[in-house]
Amino acid sequence: MARIIAGIGSSHVPAIGAAIDNGKTEEPYWKRVFSGFEKSQAWMREAKPDVAIVVYNDHASAFSVEMIPTFALGCAAQFPPADEGWGPRPVPVVEGHPALASHIAQSVILDEFDLTICNKMEVDHGMTVPMNLLFGKIDKNSHWPCPVIPLAVNVVMYPPPTGHRCYMLGKAIRKAVESYPDDLKVVIFGTGGLSHQISGPRAGLINSKWDKSFLDNLSKAPRKLAKIPHVDYMREAGAEGIEMVMWLIMRGALDDKVDEVYRFYTVPASNTAVGHIILENRKRGGKAARKGKPATAKHKRAAARAKPTQVRGR
Ligand code: DHB
Ligand code: FE
Repeated sequence: MARIIAGIGSSHVPAIGAAIDNGKTEEPYWKRVFSGFEKSQAWMREAKPDVAIVVYNDHASAFSVEMIPTFALGCAAQFPPADEGWGPRPVPVVEGHPALASHIAQSVILDEFDLTICNKMEVDHGMTVPMNLLFGKIDKNSHWPCPVIPLAVNVVMYPPPTGHRCYMLGKAIRKAVESYPDDLKVVIFGTGGLSHQISGPRAGLINSKWDKSFLDNLSKAPRKLAKIPHVDYMREAGAEGIEMVMWLIMRGALDDKVDEVYRFYTVPASNTAVGHIILENRKRGGKAARKGKPATAKHKRAAARAKPTQVRGR
């Protein structure tokens, strides 16, 4: 059976991608951001997922105002990087997992979530920036370390899905993954945010208090977050802060009680607060895991390496 071993939350700021692509990661401004992901990359190397599901939003790269699916699942074998205006990012083509993706589409749609099936789709920074943050910089002619299933969510044009809908979709995705017969280790990413507003009179808005409380509740009380209406995101986290509902898809796909093994928060990167969290499912298998202990010695070592939890505020 396939199983979701962990959820990863990460901002997807495009300027982070530009810093990687233009060799600026050692500059003090960017080093502050990238140093927060070093332990996460070690965690990822140890976790070695067979597949990643990346929940992200397209920024008018694959879709335009002409066509706006609420939830679009990438079922293709390959997803080329999109041309975001300055040309496609120099990252490898993302290899998909059509068999698992089609299985998820079937299970989730029969569970009454109306996904759009995408058999051809380009992917932008919303997806490739968090992948770089967790997998590291990867040469354009090389390969990402595992197949990836993109799930694009509309958070660009009103009305985006509610946080509750996202949380419940996460649960349906988990059920789908667990009914897939192959023994696959799956990680799920929720991307976007944290608080930010890019235009209008409140451009530059960042609300660290809101962000930190969101991360606390994501870890310990996600059902509270699932009740937050759109207007609260807009008011407290800025117009683009609504991207944070995507983290609830990731959280819905995890156990009710999870182990928070890593957290990072820094302000600013470009116009946003950068947030990052790694939450591990306890039911990774075995008795120890069911008692709430790390499932294996290997898992314990990875969790210990990722600690101490590091939180940087303004
Ligand atoms: C910025 C952040 C985003 O998440 C995004 O998708 C686009 C722009 C920014 O900081 O400018
Ligand atoms: Fe964004």
